[in-house]
Amino acid sequence: TVTTSFLKQLPKVELHMHIEGSLEPELMFALAQRNNITLPYDSVDALKQAYNFSNLQSFLDLYYQGANVLQTEQDFFDLAMAYLKKCQQQHVQHVEIFFDPQTHTDRGIPFEVMFNGLHNAFEQGKHEFGISYELILCFLRHLSEDAALTTLEQAKPFKDRITGIGLDSSEVGHPPEKFKNAFAAAKAQGYRLVAHAGEEGPAQYIWDALNLLNVERIDHGVNCTQDPELMAHLVETKIPLTVCPNSNVRLKVFEKMEQHNLKALLERGLKVTLNSDDPAYFGGYMLENYLNVQNALDLTKEQWWQLTANAIDATFTSNARKVELY
Ligand code: HPA
Ligand code: ZN
Repeated sequence: TVTTSFLKQLPKVELHMHIEGSLEPELMFALAQRNNITLPYDSVDALKQAYNFSNLQSFLDLYYQGANVLQTEQDFFDLAMAYLKKCQQQHVQHVEIFFDPQTHTDRGIPFEVMFNGLHNAFEQGKHEFGISYELILCFLRHLSEDAALTTLEQAKPFKDRITGIGLDSSEVGHPPEKFKNAFAAAKAQGYRLVAHAGEEGPAQYIWDALNLLNVERIDHGVNCTQDPELMAHLVETKIPLTVCPNSNVRLKVFEKMEQHNLKALLERGLKVTLNSDDPAYFGGYMLENYLNVQNALDLTKEQWWQLTANAIDATFTSNARKVELY
């Protein structure tokens, strides 16, 4: 039987986590105070009350607002270090982290201020906690492709420390097609490619992320069930899906965890992985996702090992590190 202590002790790999989404309300208030920013909430509790989302956009509005407290290199460092401490507590051994430069550069924070703060924290996490990491820069899809290309240009001096390019923010109405040229440019520069697709958007966006953007992993992807041919294609090509169960329930992609398709996708043979997305906003980190999934879907030990093996296989880390993680 799968016990809580089994789930706690399982070594974990996280492949879908937005660093801005790990900003806990307490840290948000502390940074606001440090930077003389007034938040539109009287207290941590009042802010938490607002975390009652009806869809992706209602979350994104608060997520971008929250990110305004991040001003200095130290702020970005503190944000990432707080996440790494959670990882250490929960036996997370390797992480691949999304960051959204445009959320910061568009309000006057220099790329290098944001990037150096994050990078220094993950380096310290590697040396102090043994947590390996890769960084994935995401373009905001509600902005233009030209803006994405500008961001890719700004990233050039830091290219050696950035593993991949992703695509996030408001999905519906901003199809993969919009970023064809930016993704082609990123690939030419040697980046690994991923994209959010099929979270709220249709199965066609997953096809387009694969065929037009040439991504290697699909972030979310749960709407693939709309298209049996796509399901068969994902099984055959072993394209990983980075599924985020707590996120999907909080954003009403599924009404209840009992209705989540994670187990069905796993049993259909898809390369499903389990991740936290925006842990400070969606009720928890890796372990809280594990516990909620187990409670609702009752996976077997073999299925938990399968999820873990899928995540190791799907990483962008070295083969030597993969062997260590196994
Ligand atoms: N989807 C799209 N954009 C995002 C998400 C998400 O789940 N989290 C942070 N930005
Ligand atoms: Zn996400």
